[in-house]
Amino acid sequence: MLTNDQFVTHRHILLESMQDNSVAIFPSADIKARNRDSDYPFRQDSDFYYLTGFQEDSACLVLLKKQGQMQSMLFCQPKIKEQEIWTGIRLGPEAAPGTLSVDEAHDINTLSEQLPSMMAGCEAVYAAWGTRPTWDAKIMSAIEVVKLKVRTGITAPTAMLAIEPLLHEQRLVKSSSEIEVMAKAADIAAHAHIRAMQSVQPGQNEYQLEGEIRHHFSQNGCRFEAYASIVGAGDNACILHYTDNNQLISEGDLVLIDAGCELDNYASDITRTFPANGKFSDAQAALYQVVLDAQLAAIEAVKPGNHFNHPHEASVRVITSGLLDLGLINGDLDTLIKEEAFKPFFMHRTGHWLGLDVHDVGAYKQEGEWRTFEEGMVLTVEPGIYVAPDNETVDEKWRGIGIRIEDDVVVTDTGHRVLTSAVPKSIADIEALMAQ
Ligand code: GLY
Ligand code: MN
Ligand code: MN
Repeated sequence: MLTNDQFVTHRHILLESMQDNSVAIFPSADIKARNRDSDYPFRQDSDFYYLTGFQEDSACLVLLKKQGQMQSMLFCQPKIKEQEIWTGIRLGPEAAPGTLSVDEAHDINTLSEQLPSMMAGCEAVYAAWGTRPTWDAKIMSAIEVVKLKVRTGITAPTAMLAIEPLLHEQRLVKSSSEIEVMAKAADIAAHAHIRAMQSVQPGQNEYQLEGEIRHHFSQNGCRFEAYASIVGAGDNACILHYTDNNQLISEGDLVLIDAGCELDNYASDITRTFPANGKFSDAQAALYQVVLDAQLAAIEAVKPGNHFNHPHEASVRVITSGLLDLGLINGDLDTLIKEEAFKPFFMHRTGHWLGLDVHDVGAYKQEGEWRTFEEGMVLTVEPGIYVAPDNETVDEKWRGIGIRIEDDVVVTDTGHRVLTSAVPKSIADIEALMAQ
């Protein structure tokens, strides 16, 4: 868990990067209805969490920078006993400055009234404009209130600036404390995959394996998945976002599990593919080895100085060459790569940033060029090969085989660190684990 000091540091760095005479507004997440009288479990907004560590809904952080003076103000729910009996104990504005080290805290119900005076004299208002329409309207009506007072000598903001380029660049490079939380999330997810490999039996349903994964997450303090788990056996492994997880697992199937947990809101994201009966067939092993070689080559390409597309280029080359060697495609290797002959078998990219969001924030390109890796960035490396069950261009033995291998990788000062190495991925290691 990050300490309060670290959230203070996050705010401080952001305030430093904001232009002078500006205000930035960060609403918490809302509670969302799932169905009548029943809500989805609350998940805090990642930007709000990164800047506060505060887990309540109905809150808003305001960062203010006026003539070089920096201030943070939290608006949150007041402590009301009759309500807290139903929905839980609240921090309350009286305790918030002491607990969260914000400069001031107020009742959220006073926000609309206080926003105009905070904005007065500011030139710019930062927000995640366009992502929360009701908040856009709330902030713009506060700007209108300030404008009505300009005849008294007050100046109103004239610029609406996106906060994302500042905040999301900051979030992209993780501190050592964030990396340690992510390493724990990764290790819990790795052991959940081990549990699934050890417990799988042909004849089971996919949802029973999903249950094994969830059990391990919960037993280790992760109540939530970082995204809906994918547990696909046989042909279902070829459906990239398969989440029905309700079919029987047959003898001879490969099972693809893409599952990660959330620890203190930080995500892990792991995929492993293994034989339901503990032993890869020759065809499965041949394609699996190609994906594994591609993944290892891609991981090797994660190092400072290389750019974001280097791992993808590495996996594309190995996968195309493997498909060629095994006879699934024909032609000249460089031409096949140029013409993207791998696309019917490998139709997604090799990875994405990972952090508070599973597909984390941060630009992938800068000024039109793939950005260079820097120490502290965290990404997934996840090539795959999926041969559609109805692909008549290839020999029958390959059809319906879907394989992906995914690890979470941190860029270090000299190269990389794989956070998810506890779960085996070589054919020999998987078969040995499953034979135990
Ligand atoms: N499970 C989401 C992803 O791998 O990107
Ligand atoms: Mn994944
Ligand atoms: Mn992923």
